[in-house]
Amino acid sequence: MRTPFVVGNWKLNKSIAEATALVTELKNQLGTVKGVQVGVAPTLVALSSVVKRLEGSSIAVAAQNCHWETSGAWTGEVSPPLLADAGATWVIVGHSERRQFFGDTSEGVGKKAAAVLAAGLGVIVCVGESLAERDGGRTLSVVDEQLMAGLAPIETMDPAKAAKLVIAYEPVWAIGTGRTATPAQAQEVHAYIRQRLASRWNAAVAEAVRIQYGGSVKPSNAETLMSEKDIDGALVGGASLEAADFIAIVKAARSA
Ligand code: 13P
Repeated sequence: MRTPFVVGNWKLNKSIAEATALVTELKNQLGTVKGVQVGVAPTLVALSSVVKRLEGSSIAVAAQNCHWETSGAWTGEVSPPLLADAGATWVIVGHSERRQFFGDTSEGVGKKAAAVLAAGLGVIVCVGESLAERDGGRTLSVVDEQLMAGLAPIETMDPAKAAKLVIAYEPVWAIGTGRTATPAQAQEVHAYIRQRLASRWNAAVAEAVRIQYGGSVKPSNAETLMSEKDIDGALVGGASLEAADFIAIVKAARSA
């Protein structure tokens, strides 16, 4: 059985004071939650303060992006070892906003994913099609290209380590739009991803990797989405900025 994983991606939101206030509330209410893994991805500026505030809880801290190199002349970048040094245990790579606005390519996402795992951190690899791609019947081919390129540099993966690899399926048309994929639409893509993980490595790895859904996840739709067989948690944007909503989504993951 896969433990569902619910992560709040705060994107470019929350000052240090706001971030620590939010995680204080999460720690109080979810600090010892069982049956579901919980994480938050604050801005880099707030990351250390969030790590410190969450000490003694089981809530993990993720970064929203990284570079694939470990150090050197890369102005403005941060590397997986430095994120580990700051207390992060997860890194999100390949978010559609990175692909769309900052030129991240599937090849680069793969290099980042491999670098994150090499640093001993867990990685959340995001994939997802645009509305035009869905309408053009290209959903699975787009997801396939992003997935296989994103996993290409990860040579070996054994089932014991597969808990450190998470795929997030985030249809671009569902992000921040209030328009959620139906559970059936999401499940179809999740099942496809799991099948491709089996062909990339083997069935045991495919069974162990968690596949999150992201895109307008809210307390009202979380449980039905996560009740689908291959939906193992959520990557939550807007609704993760409010403690009550995020807590409700985590609880929905536990009952799903
Ligand atoms: P929303 O939940 O705001 O649609 O964002 C989803 C997302 O992009 C999470 O990474």
